[in-house]
Amino acid sequence: MEFKARYTVLSAIFAVLGNAQTLPNSFPVPDEGGFLETYNVNGAGLDLTGAFFQPLGTNGRSCSSCHRPTEGWSFSAAEVQRRFLFSQGTDPIFRTNDGSNCDHNIDTSTLEGRMAAYSLLLSRGLIRIALPVPANAQFTVINVANPYGCGDMTTLSMYRRPLPATNLKFLSTVMWDGRESSPQTGTQKITYATNPFDLMADLAQQAIDATAGHAQGANPPTAAQIQSIVNFEMSLRTAQAIDFQAGFLNTDGAQGGPVTLASQPFNIGINDSFPPSFGFNPFPAPFNPVIFKLYDAWLNSPNAARASIARGEELFNSKPINITNVAGLNDVLGVPSLTGTCGTCHDTPGVGDHSASVPLNIGVSDVDSPLDVSYLPVFTLRNNSTGEIVQTTDPGRALITGLWADIGKVKGPVLRGLAARAPYFHNGSARTLDDVIEFYDQRFNIGFTAREKADIIAFLKSL
Ligand code: HEC
Ligand code: HEC
Repeated sequence: MEFKARYTVLSAIFAVLGNAQTLPNSFPVPDEGGFLETYNVNGAGLDLTGAFFQPLGTNGRSCSSCHRPTEGWSFSAAEVQRRFLFSQGTDPIFRTNDGSNCDHNIDTSTLEGRMAAYSLLLSRGLIRIALPVPANAQFTVINVANPYGCGDMTTLSMYRRPLPATNLKFLSTVMWDGRESSPQTGTQKITYATNPFDLMADLAQQAIDATAGHAQGANPPTAAQIQSIVNFEMSLRTAQAIDFQAGFLNTDGAQGGPVTLASQPFNIGINDSFPPSFGFNPFPAPFNPVIFKLYDAWLNSPNAARASIARGEELFNSKPINITNVAGLNDVLGVPSLTGTCGTCHDTPGVGDHSASVPLNIGVSDVDSPLDVSYLPVFTLRNNSTGEIVQTTDPGRALITGLWADIGKVKGPVLRGLAARAPYFHNGSARTLDDVIEFYDQRFNIGFTAREKADIIAFLKSL
């Protein structure tokens, strides 16, 4: 939506809400494609006064500084620019521990200084994530080229997008690199047998770590605060509910919106695309590439926007993609090329993340990614046994496991509420959904026509 129109609608909403302490259930908030709604499965509205919304640390930040109810429980770069404008760069998200490109040798005393210091946050919605190289790593970091300083070789600074703090029930791993669901970090791997208690334990640890890190907490949150945060996060289901062109996304047989999502069956490994021998799916059922069945009824709609969304859904479910060079897939399966679809990796029905924990490197962090990644640092890693050298803008899962094979691997996130939270991919390298499709088209030589691209983008916006 155009900035002015969006600002007018948002101001009207906040004027109505005033100092509201609750957001009515399924309250529509505007985004790039229409309106997004969050449904609380406990039926109550959203309590905006709980621990999730309280500054639990020392720098004024709450979870909602980065996970905003009006921004798909993440935030868009456009919204953070507005926040900068209105607060002159003093809103609590603008803190130098991890909001700025680097935490030292910067000047935030002037407006210009703050614009420069927070440039990655403002342009790409990125937070600095600093992680140590594991002691047992199969590789050595031999160079770090970070244009913003922060070039330490033992603790690496990566720049990542906040993942949405909603629809968490469907997660098979927590964080882009799975670090809050990994025995290596003292958290629990998420499995069919232990779900959802593993997930809830991981989210509790995540809340403690976010308070210590992002909020610079002097003390950990209390047990009651942690419980409040986890219960709150677990109750949320978020999806696009109204499209500017197509109208309500749950009319005339369509199944969009968060209420339908709330009744979506799920278990870890459901509809997993790997061969049964991997044992990811606890029930031996064949993989069904039809991941989304929300808009079938609109295929022959006289409304052009509705028909386009339905065609986009069909493309997601069926357009053949020749998958090559994806670490975590081609190498693990031992096949140099595999004909798949979007759903090969986004296999959770109705949701679109990977239903089992299968981190993949599709090339988003590669220095030769089809998208511009020149604003990111470049890490040069050398394999300790073979001497092989790799350059990447984010080692991903390898910084948790220490494994050479895990370089660049991240999880595929939940594909709901996308219209509210551009840019996309873990490093914000896709400014728009058009960029996402351009990435796939070039990376896998898919050969989408202009109309196919428009359809699949319309579909992604309606999720
Ligand atoms: C300064 C911004 C910021 C603040 C404040 C913040 N987060 Fe996050 N959050 C992020 C980023 C960035 C990521 C992704 C980091 C990564 O994966 O490396 C993330 C990831 C998450 C995830 C993982 C979701 C998934 O799909 O795996 C959850 C859950 C979450 N945050 C909850 C919280 C909670 C609860 C709080 C408050 C205690 C909080 N966050 C505070 C930026 C923030
Ligand atoms: C080979 C596996 C694979 C295939 C095929 C695949 N994806 Fe992805 N997708 C991923 C992974 C992994 C990520 C996360 C990448 C990152 O952030 O570095 C991702 C991220 C995304 C995102 C960004 C979500 C966000 O929150 O930033 C979108 C949108 C998306 N994929 C849509 C699609 C569509 C549409 C198709 C089919 C044209 C597709 N994907 C095919 C694995 C795949």
